[in-house]
Amino acid sequence: MIVITGITGGIGNYLFDLFSKNGEDVIGTYHLNKPEGAQYKHCVQLDITDHAQVETFAKTNAARLKNITLINCAGISYNSFAHKSDVSEWAQVINVNLTGTFYLIHALLPLMREQNFGKIINLSSIVAQTGVMGTSAYAASKAGLNGMIKSIALENAQKNVTVNNINLGYFKVGMINTVPEEMQQQIKSKIAFHEFGDPANIYKTIEYIRETDYLTGSCIDLNGGLV
Ligand SMILES: NC(=O)c1ccc[n+]([C@@H]2O[C@H](COP(=O)([O-])OP(=O)(O)OC[C@H]3O[C@@H](n4cnc5c(N)ncnc54)[C@H](OP(=O)(O)O)[C@@H]3O)[C@@H](O)[C@H]2O)c1
Repeated sequence: MIVITGITGGIGNYLFDLFSKNGEDVIGTYHLNKPEGAQYKHCVQLDITDHAQVETFAKTNAARLKNITLINCAGISYNSFAHKSDVSEWAQVINVNLTGTFYLIHALLPLMREQNFGKIINLSSIVAQTGVMGTSAYAASKAGLNGMIKSIALENAQKNVTVNNINLGYFKVGMINTVPEEMQQQIKSKIAFHEFGDPANIYKTIEYIRETDYLTGSCIDLNGGLV
């Protein structure tokens, strides 16, 4: 079964709908925005920064959580030059993107290890590797994920649990819609394809990771040749 966090976001929603349509058993989580529609009736409200809530989520759904693929999609960004940053907002980005992602992994790993199967896939970002002004919190949170999975991969390979990141460039849905149009054009000019990515590529990369037993501790770049 598949657990996807952040299904009210552009990418999470796309993935939730597609996996559900393909007949997968999917548990989706959202935070502040309750999704409308019959297909979302079993979705769960979950603040991934709340450790107790995440543990309860894992316990409550334990019977259903078999052969788990965990797709960590929930994430936030905060745009500010470092010297002007509000330190609480800065820290919240780390809380959601890094610590919250860890809480999910921490809560589901015991089940995965017990079942001798698990696929953990985190949506990270190219910003972890390249400097982009105003993104010190976001970049730090995503770079943290890149380091974190190396250890978790080593700790869990013998239990047939893999953990990988997809380092995304810029996609047509989700966070990109908060970026001013002028900046969007500047970004596109640096992408080899001169356009933002279709989320179908994220789905295909997730399926590739799920099907590839020997792949763990890796960060896959999916950015349309962004320089
Ligand atoms: N879109 C891109 O081009 C792009 C590029 C690089 C990386 N990424 C990464 O891909 C992932 C998905 O991006 P997106 O564009 O789909 O983002 P998005 O549209 O901004 O959606 C973010 C999601 O995160 C959830 N969320 C925020 N705070 C949360 C919390 N404390 N607990 C639980 N859920 C929380 C939101 O839930 P509510 O709406 O319910 O509050 C929402 O579902 C993110 O990790 C992002 O960093 C995206």
